[in-house]
Amino acid sequence: MFQQFPFKTPSIHFGNGAISMLGKEARKLEGQRILLITGPSIRKAGILDKALASLKESSLDVEVNVQGRDTPEPGTHIVEETSRMAREGRFDVIVGLGGGSILDVAKMTSALVINPGKVRDYFGREKVSRRGKPTIMIPTTSGTGAEVTKHAIFLDSEAMVKKAVASNALLPDVAIVDPELTYSCPREVTAASGIDAFIHAAEPFVSKNANPITDALSLQAVGIITRWLGAAVADDADVEARYWMSMGSLISGMVLNNAGTSLVHAMAYPIGGEFHTPHGISLTVLLGSCFEAILPARTDKFVQLAGAMGEPAEGRPARVAARLALDAVTHLLKSADLPASLPEIGITDRSKIPRWAVEAHAERRLLGRAKKRNLEVLI
Ligand SMILES: [Fe+2]
Repeated sequence: MFQQFPFKTPSIHFGNGAISMLGKEARKLEGQRILLITGPSIRKAGILDKALASLKESSLDVEVNVQGRDTPEPGTHIVEETSRMAREGRFDVIVGLGGGSILDVAKMTSALVINPGKVRDYFGREKVSRRGKPTIMIPTTSGTGAEVTKHAIFLDSEAMVKKAVASNALLPDVAIVDPELTYSCPREVTAASGIDAFIHAAEPFVSKNANPITDALSLQAVGIITRWLGAAVADDADVEARYWMSMGSLISGMVLNNAGTSLVHAMAYPIGGEFHTPHGISLTVLLGSCFEAILPARTDKFVQLAGAMGEPAEGRPARVAARLALDAVTHLLKSADLPASLPEIGITDRSKIPRWAVEAHAERRLLGRAKKRNLEVLI
């Protein structure tokens, strides 16, 4: 009944134009030589110029490292190459500017400047013992929350499996969240990363790892994302929707960092690994089934979720009100034009499901307390 828990978050700057704070923040971290890691689409969209202007205004030395691609699952060898370059360049602050994958590369690069060995030495929980060089993270999508989390996900270049480094030493020093930087984010990425953010808020809320602080943040983020995701997907020039999606994503990142994810993310790992579906899509096709499985054990939480999603939960029997959350999730996926089941993305072979459940259960970082037999009847 009585919980004891830490709550960790970087220092945060939020708002339109917040990227102009970059130079001042780098100075505060006693930076002189800055390494800025970004992706090709960010340079093309003119976002890099905004970052460089702010650093220049603070008279800082900057070297830009443009990664080969912006897309998910950076290989571990890429991070190792980048960190070698960072070590030789004697940089004192590392800035990540891009989507979640670029931020993950920047976070791990910083760690490997100080800690010896390869990325694979640090897969798992709390394996990175020392904080790396100070970091400033600036997201250009609304979804991963990587700017406020201790996680970084990579494709193990030797085993060809996606794995996570989860260490407090990776938590960025500063997060600068500027909704204007998401204006160029394409429609599909807005939808898939937006639902990822929703799940980062909703999934911990119904898990055993939630606490009263993350609960308050979850309900706030769930409400914001339910209201604005469809609008951001329907019209990429809707600046109000972009603003609130950036806010929702930031808040859900804080939940993710402090309460973690569980069943939906654990089940998505084997499916994403086998079919190479984007992270957000692997999640949406499982979301309804996973929530259906969790609901009987967490009826009270689902009632609150329904209320936060604008459903008329009040005054109804709990079991009826709780199911309104499932209806609201179905509507949310439809509003963002997202698939809601495995067959919708062409996966019809149900014989593999028990194996995926077993693999998901092996994901001890996420499902430390789950019972295997509960997963095998999931779908
Ligand atoms: Fe996620």
